[in-house]
Amino acid sequence: MNQQRICHIIVAAGSGSRFGARLPKQYCLLGNRPVLMETIDRMRRYGGDGAEIVLVISADMRHLWDDMCEQHKFVTPTIVYGGATRWESVRNAIATTAAQSADVITVHDGARPIITRQLMDRVMAVDGDGCIPVVEVTDSLRRILPDGRSEAADRSVMRAVQTPQAFRGDMLRHAYTLPYSPAFTDDASVMEAAGHNALRLVDGDPCNIKITRPGDIEIALMHMR
Ligand code: C5P
Repeated sequence: MNQQRICHIIVAAGSGSRFGARLPKQYCLLGNRPVLMETIDRMRRYGGDGAEIVLVISADMRHLWDDMCEQHKFVTPTIVYGGATRWESVRNAIATTAAQSADVITVHDGARPIITRQLMDRVMAVDGDGCIPVVEVTDSLRRILPDGRSEAADRSVMRAVQTPQAFRGDMLRHAYTLPYSPAFTDDASVMEAAGHNALRLVDGDPCNIKITRPGDIEIALMHMR
């Protein structure tokens, strides 16, 4: 049987405005090297033999990333430049040869460095149109109404969605030929809008945090120990 061709897209072209630092969060130090290097290394380790990685960064950050790679003796994966939205960044990566020829494509946020083997194995067992990792919501939830009031929402029927998300390559490529919607916050939402909605939910990992606010670096370091 032919081995499946796998392409992992790591999106890291965001500006990270909520992080409040001079640099976008994915370039900040996690221990002694940038967050993004931890993410890429773990994807290389747990993403499957022969898998290709496409890294999406902002063109403005290219010099900085090249300098960091030299300083840390880090070999960068194939680089693609991002766009104004996450959707555009993924679409640019899908145009690469690696993604065009892949049977399975995963998309992962560069700002989530705590990928584990167990999580990758769960997500990569793609059946149906794709697999997405989710976790239960622990906070109580409220829905904001159009008139500004709010009401309690039932958290037992809600899940928080993480990355990496894995999809059948042909379906993700098709989904990204359709027009953009501001409702696309991840790739599962793009797939669904294209009618590819047989998405299996698998257990995510509460440790798989997206570094978003300054204190998150400390939390990620704790999860790495
Ligand atoms: O903004 P948010 O935290 O949801 O971004 C999720 C991921 O998408 C981050 O890793 C970020 O770098 C990436 N992104 C991107 N291009 C954009 C916006 C976000 O690659 N234009």
